[in-house]
Amino acid sequence: SIEGGCPVPHGEAAARGLLGRTNKDWWPEMLATEILNPNGPSNPMGDDFDYAEAFNALDYNALKADLTALMTDSQPWWPADYGHYGPFFIRMAWHAAGTYRTADGRGGANSGQQRFAPLDSWPDNGNLDKARRLLWPIKQKYGQNISWADLFIIAGNVAIESMGGPVFGFGGGRPDVYEPERDIYWGSEDKWVNENVQTRIAPEHGMHELEGPLAAIQMGLIYVNPEGPGGNPDPLQSARDMRATFERMAMNSEETVALTAGGHTFGKAHGNGDPSTLGHAPAGGDLVAQGFGWVSGEEHGGIGEHTVTSGIEGSWVNTPTEWTENYFRLLLDYEYELVKSPAGAQQWQPINQKEEDMAPAAWDASKKVPTMMTTADMALKVDPEFREISERFRNDHEAFKDAFARAWFKLTHRDLGPKIRYLGPDVPAEDLIWQDPVPAGNNPSDSLVAEVKQKIADSGLTVSQLIKTAWASASTYRKSDFRGGANGARVALEPQKNWDVNEPEVIAKVVDTLNGLRGEMSLADAIVLGGVVALEKAGAGDVPFTGGRGDATQEMTDVESFEWMEPEADAFRNYMPKRLAVKCEELMLDRASLLGLSVPEMTVLIGGLRVLGANHGERGHGHFTNRSGELTNDFFVNLYDMTNVWSSVEDSNDEEYVATDRAEGHEKWRATRADLIFGSNSELRAVGEVYAQKGGEEKFRKDFVRAWTKVMNADRFDLHRG
Ligand code: HEM
Repeated sequence: SIEGGCPVPHGEAAARGLLGRTNKDWWPEMLATEILNPNGPSNPMGDDFDYAEAFNALDYNALKADLTALMTDSQPWWPADYGHYGPFFIRMAWHAAGTYRTADGRGGANSGQQRFAPLDSWPDNGNLDKARRLLWPIKQKYGQNISWADLFIIAGNVAIESMGGPVFGFGGGRPDVYEPERDIYWGSEDKWVNENVQTRIAPEHGMHELEGPLAAIQMGLIYVNPEGPGGNPDPLQSARDMRATFERMAMNSEETVALTAGGHTFGKAHGNGDPSTLGHAPAGGDLVAQGFGWVSGEEHGGIGEHTVTSGIEGSWVNTPTEWTENYFRLLLDYEYELVKSPAGAQQWQPINQKEEDMAPAAWDASKKVPTMMTTADMALKVDPEFREISERFRNDHEAFKDAFARAWFKLTHRDLGPKIRYLGPDVPAEDLIWQDPVPAGNNPSDSLVAEVKQKIADSGLTVSQLIKTAWASASTYRKSDFRGGANGARVALEPQKNWDVNEPEVIAKVVDTLNGLRGEMSLADAIVLGGVVALEKAGAGDVPFTGGRGDATQEMTDVESFEWMEPEADAFRNYMPKRLAVKCEELMLDRASLLGLSVPEMTVLIGGLRVLGANHGERGHGHFTNRSGELTNDFFVNLYDMTNVWSSVEDSNDEEYVATDRAEGHEKWRATRADLIFGSNSELRAVGEVYAQKGGEEKFRKDFVRAWTKVMNADRFDLHRG
C-alpha cells in the first residue's frame, strides 16, 4: 500500500509528484527568470563572496540601535499600531522561521525565503511584505554585512527586547539566496487555506496524521488555522492540530504553549474591514504595486485602523507593546464567547470584561476595546495538557519567561546547524541538545593515519562493509538544516545504529573492529578512513582524507529528533522496503538534493556504490558487474548494453525489473526503479553515457572519489560553511 497520509484518499490515487504544486502552477504568468540561470541558482554575489567574513565586519551594535529606533518610527504608508512595529516584526520573524520542518530540514529562517514565492504570497504571510519593506532602509544601509535572512531574525529579537521581553541570544550566519528554493514540497492542494475547508488531518477522510514532511495543516499556513480546523472554532481540535504541526518542528507541548503565549503577549490581529476588497498577493500583484500584495480597493487605503490581514480583529491583552503576565491572566480568568470580527472571522471575546482589562485602540489610546483570543489560543485554555502548562506558567512567570526565550531561540536557530556555524557577539555560551553538539576533534598526525589505515586494511573488513558504514555515517547530512553527517560518529549511537537502512549488524561489526584498532583517532575519523581504505583497495587510486572529526556521546544526542531523519528509502543503497507515495527515483533526487549533489555527482555515486556492494543486505539489484568490490564503470556499461531486454517483474507493481538476454532469453540482471532510471531518463542517461564510453572509466573513478569525498566532508564546518 502507499503510505503517507496524503490529502487525497489512500490507494493508488495517493501517489504524488515530488514537488507537489509549484510556483508555476499557482502563478502561470510569473516571469521565468530561471531560463537565464540553467546551470545553477542566480546569485549576484559570485563565488568569492564570503558572508561570514562580511558579517564579522558588521557594526553589530549600530545595527541593533538602528533597529530599535525603527520600532517606533511609524511610516505614513503603513502606520504602526500603538506607534510600535515590534509585534509586527515578531510575527515576521516567527513566520520566517516557522516554515521549518524537521522531517527534511527544509523551510525555516535559513535563506530569507520569505522574500520569494510562494511564501511571500501565502495567506498566512499577509501584509508581511510591508514589514520587510519597513526594514529596507536598514538592509540598504548595512548592505552585504547583513543578509535579509539574518535581518528578519535579529529584527524579531530587537523587537522583543525593545518591549521588555526576554531574549536568549542571537547567532548570525544565514547567507541569502536570490531565488525561490525549488526543491521543496509545500503540498499538492490546488486551493489556499482561505478557499478550502479540508485540512490535512481529517479523520473522517481517513487522514490521521500529516502527510510526509509537511508541518502545516493547510496550504498557505505556517501551522494551524487560527479560526480552528477548516474554520471550525473548536479549541480541542485546534489543540490536536497544534500538537501535530509544532511537533513537526521539534517543539514539545511546553514549547508550543510558551511560544504562542509569549508571541501573543504582543500586538494585535487585523480584521477591521471587508476582505473581499483586497487585491492579489504579491506574486500576482500589479506592476505599480511594486511587490506589495493585498492592496485594498477601499478609499481609505486599508491601512492603519482599516487593516485586514487574518480577518481576526483585536489584541490578546490590555498591554500589547509590553512584556507582561497578562496573556495567561486574561486567558484563564475570563470565560469567553464566540463572536465575529468586522471582517467576519470567528474569534473569542471575554465575557463581562472589566474596563481596565480592555485594550487601548491601536489608533486612539484614549479609547478602550475588548481583547480577544483566537481558537488556537483557546486551545491553551481548554485542552487539558495545554491547560496544565498554562496554569504552571501563569503561577511561575520566571519559568514562562525562560521557556519563551529558549523556545524562541530554538525556533529561530533550528536550521542554522551546529553552533560552530553561529556568528556574532550574542551567541549564547550554553550548548543546547538540539544543536547536535559534537566535541571538537583532534587532527590525527600523518603517522597515526598511516598506522590506522594499515590496521583497517589488515582487519578482514570487506570493501562492502567499510563502504556501507562510511556511507551510513556521512549520508545523513542535509544541507537544508546542516544536520547529520559523519562528524560525531552518531551512526554508532541510538537511534542510527539501529536503523534498518543501516544494517545494524554490519555497523556493529565495523564499529567494534574500528574501536579496537583506532588508538587516539576518533571513531568518526576512523569510519571515514575505512571508506578511504575500501576505495583504494577497490582501485580508486589515492583517496584524500581530512581528519579532525570528534565523537558525540549518547547524552549529547536527541534520539527523538534524530528519529525524524531515518530514511524510509535510500536509492543510494537500493533500499526500498515498502512502496511510498513518492516514486523511489524522485526520493533519490530528494536525497541527492539534501546532500548538495549535482546530477553528475548523484549519477557517479550511484554507479560506483552499486559495484562496490553498498546495497542494503544481500540485494543484488543494480549490481551489474562480475567484479564486485572493484570501482569500475560496469553499472553504466551493462545498463546500456543492447543485448539486455528489460521487463517488469510480475506482481512487483513496477518496483522490480529483470533483464534477459535478447538472443538466448536467460536472466542476466535484476534492477529497481532507481537503477533503470539511469537508462530511461534522457538527462541521467546522457551523464551515464559519459562514464560508459571509451575513456570514461578513468573519469568515472576520479569523479566518484571527488563526489564521495564531498559527502564525507559535507559537515566539516571547521573547513567550510556548508
Ligand atoms: C499575530 C495566529 C503562534 C506571534 C497573529 C495573528 C494571528 C495569529 C491570526 C493576527 C495576524 C493579523 O491579522 O495581523 C497564530 C496561531 C499560532 C500563532 C494560530 C499558533 C498556533 C504565534 C507564535 C508567535 C506569534 C509562536 C511568536 C512567538 C504573533 C505576534 C502577532 C501575531 C507578535 C501580532 C502581529 C502584529 O501585531 O502585527 N497570530 N499565531 N504567534 N502572532 Fe501569532
